[in-house]
Amino acid sequence: MTQHVARFKRSLLVGLALIGLGLIPSATSAERVEVSIDASKTGAKIDRDIFGQFAEHLGHGIDGGIWVGRDSTIPNTRGIRNDVVTALKALKVPNVRWPGGCFADEYHWRKGIGPQRAVSLNPNWGGVTEPNTFGTDEFMDFLGQIGSDAYISVNVGSGTPQEAAEWLEYMTTAQPTTLEKERAANGHPAPYKIAFLGIGNESWDCGGNMTPDYYVSQMKIYSRFVRNFNPAQQDKDQMQKIAVGPGGGEPRWTEWTETVMKAYQQHTWSWDINGLSMHSYTVGHWPPSYASSGFGETEYSQILKFTLEMDDLISKHSAIMDKYDPQKKVALVVDEWGTWYAPLPGSNPGFLVQQNSLRDAVLAALNLNIFARHADRVRGANIAQMINVLQAMIMTDKEKMVLTPTYYVFKMYEPFQDSTFVPVTFNSGTYTHGDVSLPRVDAIAAKGKDGKLWVEITNIDPNETVDVELNLVGTSAKGASGETLTAPKVDSINTFDAPSTVVPKPISAKAQGGKLTLKLEPKSVTVISLEQ
Ligand code: AHR
Repeated sequence: MTQHVARFKRSLLVGLALIGLGLIPSATSAERVEVSIDASKTGAKIDRDIFGQFAEHLGHGIDGGIWVGRDSTIPNTRGIRNDVVTALKALKVPNVRWPGGCFADEYHWRKGIGPQRAVSLNPNWGGVTEPNTFGTDEFMDFLGQIGSDAYISVNVGSGTPQEAAEWLEYMTTAQPTTLEKERAANGHPAPYKIAFLGIGNESWDCGGNMTPDYYVSQMKIYSRFVRNFNPAQQDKDQMQKIAVGPGGGEPRWTEWTETVMKAYQQHTWSWDINGLSMHSYTVGHWPPSYASSGFGETEYSQILKFTLEMDDLISKHSAIMDKYDPQKKVALVVDEWGTWYAPLPGSNPGFLVQQNSLRDAVLAALNLNIFARHADRVRGANIAQMINVLQAMIMTDKEKMVLTPTYYVFKMYEPFQDSTFVPVTFNSGTYTHGDVSLPRVDAIAAKGKDGKLWVEITNIDPNETVDVELNLVGTSAKGASGETLTAPKVDSINTFDAPSTVVPKPISAKAQGGKLTLKLEPKSVTVISLEQ
């Protein structure tokens, strides 16, 4: 025992001496990173639609998450829960993709309008019944309440062009047709605005297992006949048509992108597309097996490594798109992305319920930064999914609601909506854990619509503080301030009982000798604006 104490004291003294000589880092030492921002140069617009969301009829994504019904004791406006609306309004969600996902290719819109709703099935997601009480008019009401645009995915897999065309007529015509009168009778005389139209979903898989050529022939028919009649969307604000795109980087998906883009290059006056969708989940391996809480640094580093593959995937498909569309008229729309972990124990596996931790917050920031760096081509993205499903913004349980770490990242990034990309260079350093090596730091900068220069810096390293030195070219600053998001552990979560474990706190940077210095806590996401 005494021997152990003596050995411990000896190693402590040696350790302190080495720290004193600067040979090993002390617990308070920090990694240094220089970030240079050239505000005299600007790049593409960071389209606000990259902050879009996805709400599918899946588990409690809509039922219970958004919709509680008019007679519910949970405070609601026309059946839509007020707490969720308040939280989403604060995020300034640009658009919501609905009704699916795989669900969209089995959705028949007429079942979800009018006073009598048909009860149908949801075979994709748990085989439960679908009450259809939240249909087109309720979705539009929800969008109105949160101040967001509609991204409607039409049923290509098991529907018909006629069914989709009539749905669009129901939603958008101002002419006195039977469908217009039906919409008015359902309480909505004015036509709805539809910002985006998804022509099918994953048509290479759950959307009908089509070959690329077969899909292209369907896409042309839907693009031609599924029209938006809203008079306000004929010249400006035209509905953007999004074709099904790839779901990975393997040859079957590069062939898919080639086929759709080649068809686009040869398109005639009678049809058009404005976007190509891409789906990419951070899952590790199928079936999803990573735990969403109760994990350690190994799983933290592995999942972040997987998520950074998004960059290569976008580059790969962008390069194919460039061949057929060098002017970048067709946007790449990453309309399903986010983490997909093992279902929470005890939950219905078909409901895709998982926890949302600090790891998800760091991961969200890394992906948003990738989208921003590809802003010339990536002009839309929808995180999956908005509420209670996969990497959710919000979790609910009956009357309870909690905002997730991912929610706070989207809130912090709000100034980047429709901002202009500003180039940033930095020596990222390396964070290593086991056989995983990652850039220690990631950063983007942009000129916001408010005229301010906004900077985001993520410190991926869960162990080391990072001292950032911001070098500004083409501008100067007295200081900077904003918010930083971190938590005690990589798997820290917010719960209904402890909702403030992972919440942003204020941070500021001081100018010294013309440079700004900022201390970033381990595993943190930071957004600041310069004070000039
Ligand atoms: O988001 C869950 C599912 O993932 C969607 O329904 C489908 O498009 C994708 O495979």
